[in-house]
Amino acid sequence: MAYLIQRYRDGTRMNHWVVVLLFFCAGLSGLALFHPALFPLVNLFGGGQWTRTLHPYFGLLMVLGFVFLFFQMWRENLWSRRDTEWMRAAPKLLRTGEEEGMPPVEKYNAGQKLVFWFSAVSLLLLFITGFMFWQPWFADSFPILVRRIAVVVHAFAATVLILTIIAHVYAAIWVKGSMRAMTRGTVTERWARRNHPLWAARMREGVATDAAVHKRQVVDLRSES
Ligand code: HEM
Repeated sequence: MAYLIQRYRDGTRMNHWVVVLLFFCAGLSGLALFHPALFPLVNLFGGGQWTRTLHPYFGLLMVLGFVFLFFQMWRENLWSRRDTEWMRAAPKLLRTGEEEGMPPVEKYNAGQKLVFWFSAVSLLLLFITGFMFWQPWFADSFPILVRRIAVVVHAFAATVLILTIIAHVYAAIWVKGSMRAMTRGTVTERWARRNHPLWAARMREGVATDAAVHKRQVVDLRSES
């Protein structure tokens, strides 16, 4: 009998998709202000003035949304020695798609952990530097040189975040069966054993031992066989 295993609670999934929506709003409005070639993107937000006004609020809400995600996920994203080994083996996996010989993975593999920490650090930088040149509220409190540096760091952090999310979406599509984790909240036991064997074992143990800590996370929703 095959099981579906709960990977995300409803609140976590909603939190994730709200952050995604705000990422697109903040990203597209930011790109519109970044280069004249991208200026036509202002039409998505009601023109130049509106784009300029709304962009910092989109960014602020995205950071706030991510803070909630962060506190739900940081523990499972702590780096371990196994992750360093996984990174060493990753180039072969990317080249050949051959999974044999990959170190066993807990809830997240090293690539996912990098996505998590790259997102966290770039969002923190975007948040801090954004305040430094937010007209008319805070910018005047900072010397011009500081503001100039802040603009460059802001653009750099945005580039890192956008590239990180491109890799994240690519991986979510590439690893078949991942998307349902964020759309339905569950994954098949087969997917879990193949991609996250240590996590799958932990979840099964939770069912077997009825351990309080795992009880709510594992659901025997329906038989797949
Ligand atoms: C269209 C855009 C996006 C799609 C399709 C997508 C899809 C997914 C999927 C399928 C998962 C579950 C993966 C798993 O549990 O193995 C996931 C997890 C996650 N997503 Fe997204 N995502 C998107 C955008 C974003 C954005 C913009 C952020 C943050 C800025 C983000 C942050 C995360 C985090 C932190 C996780 C937990 C896994 C980890 O630590 O890497 N995602 N996403």
